[in-house]
Amino acid sequence: MIDSHTHIYMEEFDTDRNDVITRAVAAGVCHMILPNVDMESIEPLHRTIEQYPHRCHAAMGLHPTSVAADFGNHLSAIRPLFDTHHYCAVGEIGIDLYWDKTFRNEQCEAFATQIEWSQELDLPIIIHSREAFDTTLSVLQQFPKDSVKGVFHSFTGTAQEVETIRNRVGDFYFGINGIVTFKNAHLEKLVEAIGIDRLLLETDAPYLAPTPHRGKRNEPAYVPYMAARVAQILGMSIEEVDAATTHNTRTLFSI
Ligand code: NI
Repeated sequence: MIDSHTHIYMEEFDTDRNDVITRAVAAGVCHMILPNVDMESIEPLHRTIEQYPHRCHAAMGLHPTSVAADFGNHLSAIRPLFDTHHYCAVGEIGIDLYWDKTFRNEQCEAFATQIEWSQELDLPIIIHSREAFDTTLSVLQQFPKDSVKGVFHSFTGTAQEVETIRNRVGDFYFGINGIVTFKNAHLEKLVEAIGIDRLLLETDAPYLAPTPHRGKRNEPAYVPYMAARVAQILGMSIEEVDAATTHNTRTLFSI
């Protein structure tokens, strides 16, 4: 299994990162994709990748909640990193209008610029979209259909939204996190609409721990809870879900 979206470089893991990775591997989660967030997270992200080069793979980008008036300076500092480091994706990038709508236009501009990078570099993108489906789609539609590849991470939208993305933007992957294990989440129709061929498993650790760890710190060792729930919804074995989602993640990120 692969945790396709985790932030184990964050300070929440500073005291026991080694144990976290040992537990992940013991649980069968042998690879982890680590997307960047802001300027401050770049150093700890690089440090973690250097420490665990056979387990951890980095993605680089500026997260939408980190976009403000000075986003141009941040992007100018981040872009050259792609020439000196190996990254498996541009991310995480996108639109977040849940916390703050002040920099909506700046978020759109930063998102579009980073999508252009992904095309120059031939890398997939990791999309963060929260309370911003239409805005996210409008930015993606500035690019020719099927010209952008990537994943909508922590996707909790509707089956209809999956169809809309496929019709208007292209054949994206969708990341399913611990929310799928919550009793009242009702993501069955969504998981069916995505289908096993376009599904990735993720924790988004340290956030959104699955049942039975809900409310506590999340970690990559919990990916099997998501796999079990997806297997239950799709009427598959956990082994089949593991094989398919691992294949999907390796294909998308070329790892
Ligand atoms: Ni994230």
